[in-house]
Amino acid sequence: MLRLGVNIDHVATVRNARGTPWPDPLRAALLAEAAGADGITAHLREDRRHISDTDIARLMDGLRLPLNLEMAATAEMQAIALRHRPHAVCIVPEKREERTTEGGLDVAGEEARLGDFIAPLRAAGCRVSLFIGHDRRQIEAAARIGAAVVELHTGAYCDLDTEGRTADCAAELDGLCAGAALAASLGLEVHAGHGLTFDTVGPVAAIPELAELNIGHFLIAESIFTGLGPAIGEMRARMDAARQG
Ligand code: PXP
Repeated sequence: MLRLGVNIDHVATVRNARGTPWPDPLRAALLAEAAGADGITAHLREDRRHISDTDIARLMDGLRLPLNLEMAATAEMQAIALRHRPHAVCIVPEKREERTTEGGLDVAGEEARLGDFIAPLRAAGCRVSLFIGHDRRQIEAAARIGAAVVELHTGAYCDLDTEGRTADCAAELDGLCAGAALAASLGLEVHAGHGLTFDTVGPVAAIPELAELNIGHFLIAESIFTGLGPAIGEMRARMDAARQG
């Protein structure tokens, strides 16, 4: 079965807009759990613009679902991950001025540094995931440094779909399919995420090698209109339909 990880970062974005204790990301995570999510994802950014250190501690204490902690490859974040030991750590590239995670990690260009960086996390029992594009070089480098998982960046595919650039979008989807097949053949577990919506999730969910999708912004946005439970339920239904069809 294809797992759904729900990213709750933007519950914290709304909370931080007012500096109130609400809406509470832990409450959203518990609702997501009740609605059928298989995991919770949270990105502790260096600037703490959404999820905070306290949120991570509360999620670790209050959740039964596995937590996937997204973070940059910095010494500060490594220490936090080693203190909490979440189920999974997803290493992402991070630029302070970006609106969201714009591209994948350059694992091939930073192979030695990232290999050293993930070694203590692996030793602590965290499943290490690397957020990358579907490029062969990056996938092969991820396998060489001993990552358990690669998460393929679906942002470009989603943007091309939104822009109506059908041929480019189909080519990007082909790249994701080939990347997933290559990664699985190298023994990596394959996840995907970024920018997915009800309209774009189907073709990605249909990629047979994928084990997990991580989806956040659209679900939190949709929950304004329908509530979080129904939004997650509809996403889950579309993922299941894509797998069956
Ligand atoms: N996966 C990774 C590695 C991410 O960085 C993000 C965004 O934080 C997501 C998935 C979820 O993306 P979105 O919020 O666009 O669904």
